[in-house]
Amino acid sequence: MRISERKIEEIRVSANIVDMISQYVPLRKRGKNYIGLCPFHNEKTPSFTVSEEKQIYHCFGCHAGGNVYSFLMEYNKISFVEAVQQLAEQLGIQIDYESPEAEEQQSEAEILYEINTEAAKYFSDNLLNKKEGEFVKEYLGKRNIKPQTIRTFGLGYALDSWENFISFAKEKSMDIEKTIQLGLIGKNADGRLYDKFSGRLIFPIFSPNGRVIAFAGRILKSAERKAKYLNSPESLIYHKSRILYGLSLSKDEIRRLDKAILVEGYMDLISLYQNGVKNVVAVSGTALTEEQVQLLSRYTKNVVLLFDADTAGIKASMRSIEILLKKDMEIKIVTLPENEDPDSFINNYGKERFDELTLMAKNFLEYQTEYYDSIGMFKDPAKSAEALRDIVSAAALIEDELKRTFLIKSIAKKFNLREKLLESELEKVLNKTKIREKRIISSSETRKARENNIGAKSVAVDSFTVKLERDLIKLLFEDDDKIIDFIFANIKTEDFQGETNKKIFNLISDSYNDNGNIIVSSLIEKLTDDDLKNYIFEITFEKYSIGKNWDEIHPGPSKDEILSRLARDIVIKIKISQIEKVIKENSKRLENSNDDNEVLQIIKLNAEKEKEKSEIRKNISEDLA
Ligand code: GTP
Ligand code: MN
Repeated sequence: MRISERKIEEIRVSANIVDMISQYVPLRKRGKNYIGLCPFHNEKTPSFTVSEEKQIYHCFGCHAGGNVYSFLMEYNKISFVEAVQQLAEQLGIQIDYESPEAEEQQSEAEILYEINTEAAKYFSDNLLNKKEGEFVKEYLGKRNIKPQTIRTFGLGYALDSWENFISFAKEKSMDIEKTIQLGLIGKNADGRLYDKFSGRLIFPIFSPNGRVIAFAGRILKSAERKAKYLNSPESLIYHKSRILYGLSLSKDEIRRLDKAILVEGYMDLISLYQNGVKNVVAVSGTALTEEQVQLLSRYTKNVVLLFDADTAGIKASMRSIEILLKKDMEIKIVTLPENEDPDSFINNYGKERFDELTLMAKNFLEYQTEYYDSIGMFKDPAKSAEALRDIVSAAALIEDELKRTFLIKSIAKKFNLREKLLESELEKVLNKTKIREKRIISSSETRKARENNIGAKSVAVDSFTVKLERDLIKLLFEDDDKIIDFIFANIKTEDFQGETNKKIFNLISDSYNDNGNIIVSSLIEKLTDDDLKNYIFEITFEKYSIGKNWDEIHPGPSKDEILSRLARDIVIKIKISQIEKVIKENSKRLENSNDDNEVLQIIKLNAEKEKEKSEIRKNISEDLA
């Protein structure tokens, strides 16, 4: 069943986002926009903003945002297609589904989702309804997993055979090549196919929206000398560094409690969830990645780490801490009693004891210091210095100076360390990172400059120009064809200095070429990069208003006229700033040159550039008269 893009668009433009959201959230008008209490996180003062003009919403608190469809999906926990259907019904629009031929052209990703969904059903059926699945049910029973939990997580069983799944795939006329891509079927060196997950307990892995994107399979016979867990390979629909296991089920509770508990294993997550600790996600096997943290930060900034007390667990948590700190998350750490993992702990001691444990969670510096203390590092002067340096470099990752100082003080006190010593170490680390950051920025800018054919040694990206670019993008969202055409005629992707601006400009220009219009609410639907999405929200919700002083410089009678003048001025400024950059570079070369010929040449070049500047002023002014 497929709804055409055109229909989806038609339904979207027929709806009014303010009316639609008002059915669920009381909104009141403030300026051009409407505001209300965000339904996606707990708040007392409204930061949930709806733009009638742009037909989008955005929460400045939790960064939820999107168009009518994403609101319905998130609010009612339904799929995209269901959201389209629901809205169509409300608006009394008839949906005509596409013909079978069109269906064949469904996107590659859709085909993969479908195969996985079928496979998940098949595995689940094996476990719940087949004789061969009996012992798996028993196994899960012994591990205290309730039947309801088996269903909630869609657990399954892959029969212990070489080609049971293969037969099923053929019966369902699945594209075998694609089942191989998805890692459901393997291919031997001699080309023979075999069931990849055979004999394993299956954990479907879901996207945050609840679609099956991959599988993990656990061996059931402990005598086997195979890897305990087998995971689907990465594919078009599964990027393991961007997925957190369990998030599709736990995201609402995470928002509600404004806190996420992070565990390592599938079974840990399932046991906690079953015991009522529902704000939990698992990294499952891989070390925590920045992308995972980015994903989690959409729901909360508060994370409780719950890793095994063994050394591997501690190492993993140290690494995770750094990544979490870099992303500005608030971290607490829980240490479990020895030989317990979250799964065994909650089964042995129950939810109450578990809650007590998480209430006693330590902040990470305390945790780290205690750990070093426990392994005796503060007894040996050499090791003690090493430990201090480690602790301080972790502290240096905290951006908030006040918080950082406070933590350093409390650690010094608690462990009888000299505060001054810690502070001077911290100072050293901070200076080092600052220098490094500068170096990284300038080297990437030199590269960019070179790509732009300016041949500079190091030209800093000029922040004034980056702001102008942002204004230019804002103008593209003003829905004025004359201005849009003018901008596209004069500015190319290469003209941008700001990387994010460049990316967004590209996106907009693609969308304009495809559809002949620029509609924010439709553009963001296709965006998967959260940072870009947020940037667009910020631009459109006027966190940045177009160069404030511009309207003072150009008081105009009509909005149209003001916008035209703005567009013209910005385009001219961007063009001229480019030329000036070249002139500056040339002048630098001039200073350093001993070669008379070269000097003459450069002077000539610069004179030409000056001429170019005045031509731009003239031509572009005529362009949008
Ligand atoms: P149980 O042993 O059934 O309680 O599972 P567990 O989830 O507690 O496993 P464990 O604590 O041994 O490992 C934690 C997590 O690391 C697992 O959930 C997996 O995500 C991952 N993991 C463990 N062993 C393997 C392995 O052999 N291969 C892969 N890819 N991942 C593994
Ligand atoms: Mn376990």
